[in-house]
Amino acid sequence: MTTSSQHRFDGQVAVVTGAGAGLGRQHALELARRGAKLVINDVAKAADGSWVAERTASELRALGGEAVADMADVSDEEAVGALIEHAVQAFGAIDILINNAGNAITAPLWKLSTSDMKAVLDVHLWGTFWSMRAALPHMRQRGYGRIVNTASALGAFGAPHSAPYVAAKAGIIGLTRVAALDTAGTDIRVNSIAPIAYTALAKDFFDHHPSVNVEKLSTATVSPVVLYLSHESCELNGELLSVAAGRVARICTITAPGLYSEHLTSEQVADNLATIMDPAGYIVPSKSMDQYKLLKLN
Ligand SMILES: NC(=O)c1ccc[n+]([C@@H]2O[C@H](COP(=O)([O-])OP(=O)(O)OC[C@H]3O[C@@H](n4cnc5c(N)ncnc54)[C@H](O)[C@@H]3O)[C@@H](O)[C@H]2O)c1
Repeated sequence: MTTSSQHRFDGQVAVVTGAGAGLGRQHALELARRGAKLVINDVAKAADGSWVAERTASELRALGGEAVADMADVSDEEAVGALIEHAVQAFGAIDILINNAGNAITAPLWKLSTSDMKAVLDVHLWGTFWSMRAALPHMRQRGYGRIVNTASALGAFGAPHSAPYVAAKAGIIGLTRVAALDTAGTDIRVNSIAPIAYTALAKDFFDHHPSVNVEKLSTATVSPVVLYLSHESCELNGELLSVAAGRVARICTITAPGLYSEHLTSEQVADNLATIMDPAGYIVPSKSMDQYKLLKLN
């Protein structure tokens, strides 16, 4: 393992959504410690009625950093546009956008209402879309930007009783890929993470899985990957990294050669399932047309 010189963010402006607590607060603290100016977004209030975003921002200022609080609800299109403008007004630019705000509703699919689905999709998927749509023109104008979206292993692999969350997070994986393709050839990088950490959002899940040692699942083990993806040296684009408890690894979608038959029949599908499902010889497409390499089109 080799180590680069310390990654710094001096003078750079970062917006972190949902940064009043949990992972977002940790990412913001680490960015501020390394010189970034922060817009701390969160919609929540603490038990004493104070805004949690203001609490994190004060904490950063007490550490000698520059930080402002923004209480936008990321499920509100207009408020998300205003959040990005807040960064530009307060600090003159936006270099880093970390989409982290999140909620969850769990129930079997057949018990979910339309408003349950919307309540989660609006925060994760629409919030991520609206903030990227607002931030990218500023980044494109300056020819530089780093966006880190918070997806989830649930969005990549699925999980029971989590339809709104899984659909939203799977959507974020797709949005990340598209934003990276749409900005290809520039010094803008858009990636996502699939973290695991023992936070308020995840507490209920881990409390039902007592065999997991939650002490290993600190938010501090996730932020280093967010820092790398936010740094000017980041070489990745459109990728999804799994990160938890000291492990970081690529999550990707593959496709394999499968079965080829000039006159494919339903019976051939039935008789060749092992070949169809065999991942041997897989490729990792970075866009949908990459799979055409596996088709016999000539
Ligand atoms: N903790 C995990 O294991 C885990 C796993 C996978 C993904 N994630 C994702 O990580 C992100 C951070 O979650 P966390 O685990 O730190 O949870 P958390 O509950 O500690 O933090 C989420 C923060 O988002 C804020 N928020 C919620 N809705 C908002 C809205 N509409 N506008 C603005 N802020 C809003 C909350 O007030 C809260 O402070 C989420 O996107 C979550 O889905 C977490």
